Amino acid sequence: MTENHTLTVRDNRTGEEYELPITDGTVRASDFGKIGKTEDEPGLAVYDPGFTNTASTRSAVTYIDGDKGILEYRGYPIEQLAEKSTYLEVAYLLIHGELPTREQHDKWVHEITFHTFVHENLKSQLQGFRYDAHPMGMLLSSVGALSTFYPEARNISDPQVRHDQVVRLIAKMPTLGAWSFRHAQGKPYVYPDNELTYTENFLSMLFKMSEQKYNPDPRLAKALEVLFILHADHEQNCSTNAVRSVGSSQVDPYSAVSAGIAALYGPLHGGANEAVLKMLKRIKVPENIPAFIEGVKKGDEKLMGFGHRVYKNFDPRATIIKKAVDDVFEVTGVNPLLEIAQELERIALEDDYFVSRKLYPNVDFYSGLIYEALQFPPEMFTVLFAIPRTSGWLAQWIELVDDKEQKIARPKQIYTGDRQLTFPSAEERWSR
Ligand code: CMC
Repeated sequence: MTENHTLTVRDNRTGEEYELPITDGTVRASDFGKIGKTEDEPGLAVYDPGFTNTASTRSAVTYIDGDKGILEYRGYPIEQLAEKSTYLEVAYLLIHGELPTREQHDKWVHEITFHTFVHENLKSQLQGFRYDAHPMGMLLSSVGALSTFYPEARNISDPQVRHDQVVRLIAKMPTLGAWSFRHAQGKPYVYPDNELTYTENFLSMLFKMSEQKYNPDPRLAKALEVLFILHADHEQNCSTNAVRSVGSSQVDPYSAVSAGIAALYGPLHGGANEAVLKMLKRIKVPENIPAFIEGVKKGDEKLMGFGHRVYKNFDPRATIIKKAVDDVFEVTGVNPLLEIAQELERIALEDDYFVSRKLYPNVDFYSGLIYEALQFPPEMFTVLFAIPRTSGWLAQWIELVDDKEQKIARPKQIYTGDRQLTFPSAEERWSR
């Protein structure tokens, strides 16, 4: 406990001293607001673009220790979850805070499985997109549109209503994601097959053609399951913050999650694995690697898929993904880019430039190779991220809705513009 810990701040403008409580390694920004506050002047504020050192919430969902390479969902290490669990069980854990009993598990899986269909009007909406529409744009707008199909979702204070929307969202994301993929290929949309598991059904909706029943290779379904588990949550990242920020207005979860999808769409968040693939294709052959590495060290470009804002020793997800790579390539045949990736990794991990800066492969270094081997075009990569991240977004959204300390998100600004100008006459405005 840090109950008696305080921070003494002396305001040198006035000579006044303030004692601010320190709780859980943080001081309250609102306590700074008391410093220097007068009737005419607002108190001190903290300035933190990008929230690099600001805790926006208390959360019991995901724990990360970047220095030690630890990632835990609800206290369970990611390595154990990836090895022993399924995506739906992990989704239950994230949403409910504890692992399901057998009965709870079966009911959960049943509920998700039987909500995989979407309203036919939503299908028409998807069909209205242009042939070359980006699947992430299609996903984002169709998830937003779901709120119009379930208007009761606005009643976010009712736990049963919340549960129903959580089930619907987790269930329908693969359907919408797969249909966005089929749309770009001009292929008919495939309806869900409720006899298959979550990832098997997703593969079926992606790749089924004229066969009566699509039976995905269990090794591919398992690899996808692992990838889904690894991407299910990552505490207060950009898209989760977007879900929480939009959700703080008490909007329905479909609208809040579509904000998360929009944030994930951006290249700084969900797009790094696509950049890795482009980089490997550009390097083309292992002989070109030394020249490429020299360019990186000179600062010409970055080694994509290396480095992380939080993980400074290793990204635990990267270690797990490397194992999945072997399983997938056993089925699909080896992607020739793998050799370049492995050689790049070997050279970089021995090079002082990368070692001294604590730059290691992150989750995106190998995931793009797997996705490409599974025949996904790069535009689908962020969709493959958004589908499993939905359970994490929803777990964080429920936490937000239940958190009495939370308020509508409304940061302060430091105003830098003009003040009190006189509006010029038309003559003055247009003669400039
Ligand atoms: N290649 C070469 N140099 C790098 C790289 C890289 N990938 N990443 C960082 N550096 C250098 C950087 O130039 C700086 O060098 P110096 O001290 O000489 O100026 C030093 O390492 C520290 O970098 P930083 O930019 O302060 O680190 P950051 O924490 O702000 O950035 C990062 C983290 C992930 C944005 C960055 O490492 C990067 O751009 N990596 C490549 C893109 C990538 O793979 N992104 C996916 C991240 S994982 C996504 C997820 O968790 O969902």
